[in-house]
Amino acid sequence: MSSNNIESGLIENRLFAPSEEFTKNARINAEKLAALHQQADTDYTGFWAQQANEMLDWHKPFSNVLDDSNAPLYSWFNDGELNVSYNCIDRHLTNNANKNAIIFEGEQGDTTFITYLQLHQRVSAFANALKERGIKSGDRVVIYMPMTPEAVISMQACARIGAIHSVVFGGFSADSLRDRINDAGAKMLITADGGHRGGKIVELKSAADKALEGGCPSIESVIVYQRTQHDIKMQAGRDIWWHDAVSEQSDHCEPVWVNAEHPLFLLYTSGSTGKPKGIQHSSAGYLLGAAVTNSWVFDLKDDDVFWCTADVGWITGHTYVAYGPLAVGSTIVIYEGAPTVPDAGRFWKMVQDHKVSVFYTAPTAIRALMKLGDNFPNAYDLSSLRLLGTVGEPINPEAWIWYHEVIGKGKCPIVDTWWQTETGSNMIAPIPGVVATKPGSCTKALPGIMADVVDEDGNSISEANRGGYLVITKPFPSMLRTIWGDDERYKDTYYPKFDGRFYLAGDSARKDADGYFWIMGRIDDVLNVSGHRLGTMEIESALVSHELVAEAAVVGKPHEVKGESIFAYVVLKGERPAGGIDEELTKTLRNWVGEQIGAIAKPDEIRYADNLPKTRSGKIMRRLLRTIAKGEEITSDTSTLENESILDQLQGKA
Ligand code: PRX
Repeated sequence: MSSNNIESGLIENRLFAPSEEFTKNARINAEKLAALHQQADTDYTGFWAQQANEMLDWHKPFSNVLDDSNAPLYSWFNDGELNVSYNCIDRHLTNNANKNAIIFEGEQGDTTFITYLQLHQRVSAFANALKERGIKSGDRVVIYMPMTPEAVISMQACARIGAIHSVVFGGFSADSLRDRINDAGAKMLITADGGHRGGKIVELKSAADKALEGGCPSIESVIVYQRTQHDIKMQAGRDIWWHDAVSEQSDHCEPVWVNAEHPLFLLYTSGSTGKPKGIQHSSAGYLLGAAVTNSWVFDLKDDDVFWCTADVGWITGHTYVAYGPLAVGSTIVIYEGAPTVPDAGRFWKMVQDHKVSVFYTAPTAIRALMKLGDNFPNAYDLSSLRLLGTVGEPINPEAWIWYHEVIGKGKCPIVDTWWQTETGSNMIAPIPGVVATKPGSCTKALPGIMADVVDEDGNSISEANRGGYLVITKPFPSMLRTIWGDDERYKDTYYPKFDGRFYLAGDSARKDADGYFWIMGRIDDVLNVSGHRLGTMEIESALVSHELVAEAAVVGKPHEVKGESIFAYVVLKGERPAGGIDEELTKTLRNWVGEQIGAIAKPDEIRYADNLPKTRSGKIMRRLLRTIAKGEEITSDTSTLENESILDQLQGKA
């Protein structure tokens, strides 16, 4: 861990307590929260068993709670059976059949309302279409879709028949899609002709075609949802339109009851080394985490309209769009497009029009919209809002205060939720009716989540504000089960230290004198760009796969809106460009990375050098490169560098 992770920054002392009004109506009050913590602390498995029985409907009840005999390959409720789609849809039909499950708005302004009954019919019909195309329990299905209700319907339909979905974010390139299809061994791809974003069409089908042309031997069929209606190619025998696939299907489909541990989905995420990891989640434990946190943290009640702006291509879009809010019978809002179309008031207009009461987004979006001025939010009636949330990266106090004042009008608590793709659901977050918040802190661990900050030897750090490793000291139901097909990598990545006793989150953190957690950053070489994790390794591999590049090193540089921007140092096979500048080549390399991974991974800056700074053992001196990227003075010892003159090149001075 580098020293800048350990030193804590500014100490923020402002404290914001929820209003009496909010507390009075909240699902969890102080007494209830104390009781939950007390039970979790004294009877950990009893606590989770009770939650699992209260929150989920079981087809076959479980008697085992936690099985840790094969740690860290843990399992939960492993003799029970249920169906996730049944829990998200069917069980609400008795009382809430005609309640809106989904309110959808397309970028061009088209709106669709889908009740729980209609969702049941559409998911069932699509599940029957999957079955007709040979999809069975345990088969993998890749979903590469625009942000429309059909994305959620695809996920729910897979869950209904026990198929394991893997959603690939629509912004990923053909190459990234192909790698994920092949790693998962997917039998089917569900995609669309395109989607609307930023006034343009996102060419999903043509990217999918390119991915499949490159070799995806496991894919047998492709279902194509017609969204944009522009011209695309359909391959006879392999591709079928969504509307044709469902046209003759019954809108009844018996859910397939699966074991609690049956994988619900894989979601690929970046790590510090190697290719993206297929994070594997379970059915029951995952859904339990999703359901309890939608209830505790988002305080969702019968009349709430919940808008989580995340795309279903990320974990947030799984847990707080596609599964959790539906599991607790809420109404969700889905928006297809960009936040600035037609202008920066889009989010706020939608809050007004759909009477959104709970709103969850990322600091990067808050910062971007804040920069565009208060006139946009001030033009709309935001009085329906009662709770706000953030996720993805630490939120800077300035953005927090703007969110609180300008969006929440000072009356909405802000839940800053710390969690990860791997944890499946919120881990450290305030219970909004009880825990007073501090701008920039995700506050305290939820009941049943044993989070701590430990030193190099795994000892809990009791001293206030001393940084260390953020760990979870007990297994919890919604945690990842493994990395798809690679148990060893799972163990090495998440349990590499402390004799395998703790789950290592990969973040550094500190606790203040009140026991509040403050996330300080990653301890590994993972960037957080606009709230998305990107492995520096992946970007480096993409760069060196270009014929002109010999070596590359990528680091993060603080960025006002994106959190971090991507800074690449490149050594060419041929001559270094004169003065280290070659705008044409930089453009080519940026586009190259865009094609290999996706536009979000394009380096913001590229600097050319004859060499990279390395230690005697050949390791790239990343800390030095980070310092240089920030434009800070070099204070570390550089005498071991074989060629000190490259420092000038790296700094852009030669
Ligand atoms: O570094 C932490 C940061 O995002 C990482 C997880 O990224 P990902 O798996 O892509 O999931 C993002 C959405 C859950 C964490 O290791 N992070 C996430 N939430 C916060 C955060 N950092 C600070 N505060 C947060 N609230």
